[in-house]
Amino acid sequence: MKNPVLILSLFLMIFISCQENYKETSQEDLVFNEPFRPQYHFSPPTQWMNDPNGMVYWDGEYHLFYQYYPDSTVWGPMHWGHAVSKDLVHWEHLPIALYPDENGWIFSGSAVMDLENTSGLGTKDNPAMVAIFTYHDPIGEKEGRDDFQTQGIAYSTDKGRSWTMYEGNPVLKSPGIKDFRDPKVFWHEDSERWIMSLSVMDKISFYSSSNLIDWEYLSDFNPSWAAYGGVWECPDLFTLTTEEGEEKWILFVSINPGGPQGGSATQYFVGDFNGTTFTSTTQSVKWLDWGADNYAGVTWSNVPESDGRRLFIGWMGNWNYAQVVPTHPWRSAMTIPRTLHLSKMTEDYLVSSRPIAELKNLRTESLSIEGKAIALDAELLELELKPNSSQFQLMFTNPNSEELVLKSNGETLILERANSGLVDFEKGFGNEQKANLEGIKINELTIYLDRSSIEVFVNGGALVMTSIVFPTAPYDALQMEGFENLNQMHHLKSIWR
Ligand code: FRU
Repeated sequence: MKNPVLILSLFLMIFISCQENYKETSQEDLVFNEPFRPQYHFSPPTQWMNDPNGMVYWDGEYHLFYQYYPDSTVWGPMHWGHAVSKDLVHWEHLPIALYPDENGWIFSGSAVMDLENTSGLGTKDNPAMVAIFTYHDPIGEKEGRDDFQTQGIAYSTDKGRSWTMYEGNPVLKSPGIKDFRDPKVFWHEDSERWIMSLSVMDKISFYSSSNLIDWEYLSDFNPSWAAYGGVWECPDLFTLTTEEGEEKWILFVSINPGGPQGGSATQYFVGDFNGTTFTSTTQSVKWLDWGADNYAGVTWSNVPESDGRRLFIGWMGNWNYAQVVPTHPWRSAMTIPRTLHLSKMTEDYLVSSRPIAELKNLRTESLSIEGKAIALDAELLELELKPNSSQFQLMFTNPNSEELVLKSNGETLILERANSGLVDFEKGFGNEQKANLEGIKINELTIYLDRSSIEVFVNGGALVMTSIVFPTAPYDALQMEGFENLNQMHHLKSIWR
């Protein structure tokens, strides 16, 4: 081989291929294995994420779009990031789906499959996936206008891989109210039209459309007794059926601030929707999750009837401190996906949330745990525990004397993260999180621990607490008081390896 050009080309090829390999390894090792990087929760490869958006199922894939700022680890001009999953557990990161344009940044919203081609943006054979989102115009905001949030649509006819902004955007203008956002749209069978739930300051407004393009105002929902600590955001309206076969309409409304632990949280209403108006059956404030870190969650659309589940995911964060949590080079993760269930209580209804069954596939080893002091030789865990007393305590500890405590005195369930690891990035982060049991007798706990989160499901999800934590070393021991000897611990595997 005397030809110098050939030799140089060979060297170049080897060099480039080494670089490619290097890139692959570094993505895995550096980006998905940092301290605090969730190992079985969805998080963006890098930079800032908040609300889940546009969740829709189509052709074997669950789509998850999300509020994303690709230039920083704090909130900024919003885009829609994108990922897909075949099982809601393993995620494939895809390129950004929606970019800001002349109408503004891309705030939260939903996506539907326009199966009957009502919009004319696809065909019946190849229906369009249509995203309905809020445009936030930062220039209008700066100028002090009150109509800088409008609704726009975009569509894809290639399984969400490429997107076109509708040329007639915006499709719904603000009536002169600053907070006018987060459209969640579904096809209402009875009235044969699309219904949009929209957050309008501190109420939910409903709109209808025959084609996803022309929208007509229907009604408002803002009962005097609801929780009004802050602005209403990210609504969702859908049905659930009790085990006895009674169907009710459920309305989710995220509020910030004003949640039970301070800052962000999601309240829900159980009632009836007649195609125009939503009315709540009972007058009591209900929280979907009592922990500090489950916000802006909504449900997937177009889940096949053969599946029949109402599938939910939330943003595992709280606006009180989301922008200062000690993670790098990304910020925020989603909750584990959950299924929603409705039960009729004596005088009210209850929506419970349960981990999706697919998560069981992450189990690598299952052990019975007995006694009071348990060594944890894995950091990714699912625990199934049975208290034998109304007073119990669980304490997760690590060699750095950090501890995360979950305890009950029979009247409240308390999560203490004051000494759980890094906490001083925000003054309220270490506050005790407390849920009133209101007569619930805790007989079963399912707990999911990831590197920087704990999700507690009481009695089949009748009460849930989701919380993020930043231990400086993995919790490697668990002390248990008040439990039977019928407890199970499952080691889980990472979804990134
Ligand atoms: C909720 C929210 C939405 C808004 C989005 C902006 O967390 O404030 O109301 O559309 O985030 O990123």
